Amino acid sequence: MKLKDLEFKKFIPSDRIEKKVASLAHQINADYEDRTPIFLPVLNGSFMFASDLLKEITIPCRVSFVKISSYAGGTTSTGQLKTLIGHDESLFGLDIIIIEDIVDSGLTLEKLVEDLKNRGAKSVEAVSLLRKQVAREKNIQVKYVGFELEDEFVLGYGLDYDGLGRNLKDIYKQSSPGNSGN
Ligand code: IMP
Repeated sequence: MKLKDLEFKKFIPSDRIEKKVASLAHQINADYEDRTPIFLPVLNGSFMFASDLLKEITIPCRVSFVKISSYAGGTTSTGQLKTLIGHDESLFGLDIIIIEDIVDSGLTLEKLVEDLKNRGAKSVEAVSLLRKQVAREKNIQVKYVGFELEDEFVLGYGLDYDGLGRNLKDIYKQSSPGNSGN
């Protein structure tokens, strides 16, 4: 599949994603059995994951969206974080679960966790569908991880390449140079 100048091939099919999302939700349901957490999906990338995950959450919970990004439109992190918008309600004393699509450099998550702790959150954890090698090496704290990746660029299931591909139900990865993909 070609999007703009890059070739992508199917990587994680939707049925595998569906099973993983259900298992992540079951772990969260068990761990937060006696609490009423607030989920903070990080827009735009996590919209599809958040929607599927939250349908499997059976404990009482709240949901509020935030937006922050370190990507400027290409395939590598710029390290420049845009300002956080959203969640204007008080988060004081709440158990927060951040919903991320992917943790790459971990800059977005680190910034968000720090911000939420400064606002007096009781606890802050994160669930991410995907985590890249860089974040593992840097030991970025993510309590619930769906799939571990190497340093590869992926799209689909909410993730984009220059704004494209968010609507795809499977996850694709960039084919190696010289590989035509499918
Ligand atoms: P980080 O701050 O470097 O961890 O980047 C996190 C954000 O960058 C994610 O929430 C995504 O929006 C975006 N991102 C990181 N890696 C990819 C990728 O492989 N494909 C698409 N977006 C990505």
